[in-house]
Amino acid sequence: MTKADPTDRTTGTGVHAPGRARISARTLRTDRWWMPQLITALVLGLFAIYATLRAFQNGDYYSKPYLSPLYSPCLSTKCVPGSSDFGEPIGSWFPLSPAILILIFPLGFRMTCYYYRKAYYRSFWLSPPACAVAEPHAKYTGETRFPLVLQNIHRYFWYAAMVFSVILTFDAVLGFRDEKGNWGHMGLGTVVLLVNAALIWAYTLSCHSCRHITGGRLKHFSKHPVRYWAWMQVSALNAKHMQLAWVSLVWLVLTDVYVFLLARGAFSDPRFF
Ligand code: FES
Repeated sequence: MTKADPTDRTTGTGVHAPGRARISARTLRTDRWWMPQLITALVLGLFAIYATLRAFQNGDYYSKPYLSPLYSPCLSTKCVPGSSDFGEPIGSWFPLSPAILILIFPLGFRMTCYYYRKAYYRSFWLSPPACAVAEPHAKYTGETRFPLVLQNIHRYFWYAAMVFSVILTFDAVLGFRDEKGNWGHMGLGTVVLLVNAALIWAYTLSCHSCRHITGGRLKHFSKHPVRYWAWMQVSALNAKHMQLAWVSLVWLVLTDVYVFLLARGAFSDPRFF
């Protein structure tokens, strides 16, 4: 059987689809359209390397009372003593770092995020690289086929992300204890963890799936005033979703670095009271 030519303008897809203008140039844009994509690729690439190294390091993630968000919740008997605030239900069967098991959820949430999809489709897969720049691939099937059809799992990751937001808030509240476990302490680490929890909440609540869950499918807003109010708040946050995606990601790394440095004894946590 003869294989169909994907660039054939009578049967091709994407920019080669029937009816698309016949332009041989990849783009007619003269601005530096590739700059945002380059920066995105660099930052996301660095984050992926950093998170992988830290997750596999399996150490320096707890400095009483602060637990790094990359290791929270720590559920294994191999966790550093005092860091398992939710018990150790995993036991010791998992041979690798305890961070690997829980990172699946926040990582899956970010990987399937509508904004990050746009970012890495453009930066890494060049599909397409930018508006009005033809992609190099001959065929385009979008998210209609395996594996990209799995991106639809995002709404379920959102529920997991809500649980993680609660857990990270709990961790931040625990930051009001001192090294001996007494309440009434506040250090710079407490502030770092509080800001991290607030940004994670803002990012999670600004999610497109959250917007759909609060106000989607409603035919009459007037009959659902509470959901309408919630939808309005989420919509306002949703307009800032891209910014929240970046700020929460950067702060997450800074929080981990802060706990790492404390755990290594690089300095002492400045204490307010
Ligand atoms: Fe970005 Fe849901 S769309 S987190």
